[in-house]
This record gives sequence, structure tokens and C-alpha cells, in this order.
Amino acid sequence: MIPRQLFPAQAGLSHLNPVDQADRAVSYTAMIFNFGSINIDHVYRVAQMPSPGETIVAASYRKLLGGKGINQSIAIARAGQVPVHIGAVGADDEWTLAQVKGFGIDTAHVARSAQPTGHAVIYVNDAGENQIVIFGGANQDLQQAQIDKAFEQTVGGDHWVLLQNETNLLAEIVDQAKAAGFRVAYSAAPFVADTVAHLIGRIDLLAVNEIEAREAAGLLGVAVSEIAVPEMLITRGSKGAEFHSDGEVFRQDAFLVDAVDTTGAGDTFLGSFLAHYCNGLPIAQSLRYASAASALQVTRPGAAVAIPARDEVERFLYERKA
Ligand code: RIB
Repeated sequence: MIPRQLFPAQAGLSHLNPVDQADRAVSYTAMIFNFGSINIDHVYRVAQMPSPGETIVAASYRKLLGGKGINQSIAIARAGQVPVHIGAVGADDEWTLAQVKGFGIDTAHVARSAQPTGHAVIYVNDAGENQIVIFGGANQDLQQAQIDKAFEQTVGGDHWVLLQNETNLLAEIVDQAKAAGFRVAYSAAPFVADTVAHLIGRIDLLAVNEIEAREAAGLLGVAVSEIAVPEMLITRGSKGAEFHSDGEVFRQDAFLVDAVDTTGAGDTFLGSFLAHYCNGLPIAQSLRYASAASALQVTRPGAAVAIPARDEVERFLYERKA
């Protein structure tokens, strides 16, 4: 049986003032099924990015858990929800499985593939910016049986499926999710034009950064604000975020912090937002929580390893409010 997480009564939302808390109608019954990539991130700290044809020396190297999918699941978990993560790693890769478990993510739906675990080569420069090359590997080897297994164990409820562009079988997952009455959140990253064009009319929530938003708009031949999806989350890094819903636009400023590494900041924002929003917290509070979580995340190196726990985010929000 898939674990069914109900938030504790107080829901750890002490950053809300009493009025906000009283106004919330939080159900805490939605589950998030994340069909998501799992990568080994090879992270090289460099003074500046190499130019084409140039060889440079890295200041440091770290091997870390990453992948947009698992980063988002970890953000959901750290915000207090229990995601169901469906993914795959290489058959003999105990390191990555142990990492996933170590972050509190159940591996019951993580298959062992004949393909090697997906990986990313990441350069992070002194400005905290990154360049990433990914190799799909096992992430591109999800099996239909995994989709069936995930959905067959689900009991009713207001559930969500979460997808990114780092795995295969996206259209099949969306079809089954819709048939089961789930809502679908789709992170169009990395941007793959054909896939976005195919999925955009079938999803409930599109999550993009500002570059992906422009790419999606260009692809569809419309303005960003005219992208025809029921809901859209646009993250703009230090320029904040906005959420389009039902003709309304909600804006959230970014918190001012000293960023050392922005890898995984968008994943942190999305996972943190969904953990709250999918369970009934109003959009404005969900955005504020996600903004604080990603602000904290960029102040330390790494992707998954840098995602803050809920009590830390709440403390940050409390201090900022004060
Ligand atoms: O969004 C950051 C992630 O993108 C990294 O962890 C890397 O694995 C790539 O998937």
C-alpha cells in the first residue's frame, strides 16, 4: 500500500499569521506521484565557465545525488509531504539507491535498469551560475509496468502526477493519470520542443523558468501570458516568481540572499510549492513558502543536499516577517 501522508494538525505553518491560519482550508489528503529522473551529479567548481576548445582546472569536485525529478521529490518531502517517487537507476548502483533512501524517499517504485544511472556533469562558477550536461541512462528506461503499478495501488482522492522532461513514457503517464482522474503538473525542463508541443494541451499545471516560458510561447506562437494551460508557474530566479491561475496572476518577490550555487533552485521551488498547494494551502502562501525554500537552497552548494527542511524555512519566514 502506498503511504498516505496526512499533515499534522498544525501543519508546521507557523510562519502564517493567525488570520492566515484560520482562513486556510487545508485538506492534506492529496498525494503527489512523481515520475522523475534520478541522477548522479558530478559537480565541478570553476572560477569561470570554459570556452569552446579550452581546458580549465576545477577548484573542487563532488559526487552528489541530483536529477530534476528526485530534487523535486526531496523538496516535497522536506516541506512535509510524502511523495511517491517512480524512477530507475542502474542495476548495480547501490550508492544512488542509498542516497535516495537517505533523503527519506521510499525506493519501492525505483526500478533497477540495465542502463547505467543517469548522470549530470555540472560546472558551477564563482557567481553561483551553472552549466549542466545530462546523460539520461536509466531515466530513459522507465517501464509501462511501473506506471501500472503506481496507479493500481492508488485509492481515491485529489491526487497529482508530476513529470519533467528527463524521463521516457511521458505521454503514456499523462494518459493514465488523466484516466485515473489525477491532475498533472509538468516541469518542461530541460526544454524539448516536441514533447512540450505534445503535452501542453493535456496538463493542468505547467512549470517553467523564464527562458522555458519564452521558448514555450515561441513554440506556440503566443505571448507568455497566453499559453493555454489551466495553471502556470514561472520562476524567475532573483526576480521572483508568478503563478497564473484562472485568469489571475499571483506574484512573489524573491528573498534577497547571497547565492553560491543555483543548481536545483527551480526544482526546490516547484516541489515546495506543490507540497503545499496540492494540499489546499492558498496560492500566495504556497508561493511564499517556495520562495523562502529556494532562497535558502541557493545559499549552499549542491542540488538535493541543499534543500532546506520545513522548520528551517519557517524560521526564515518568521525572521523575515519580523
Ligand atoms: O535542476 C538541477 C538538476 O538538473 C541537477 O541536479 C541535474 O542532475 C539536472 O537534472
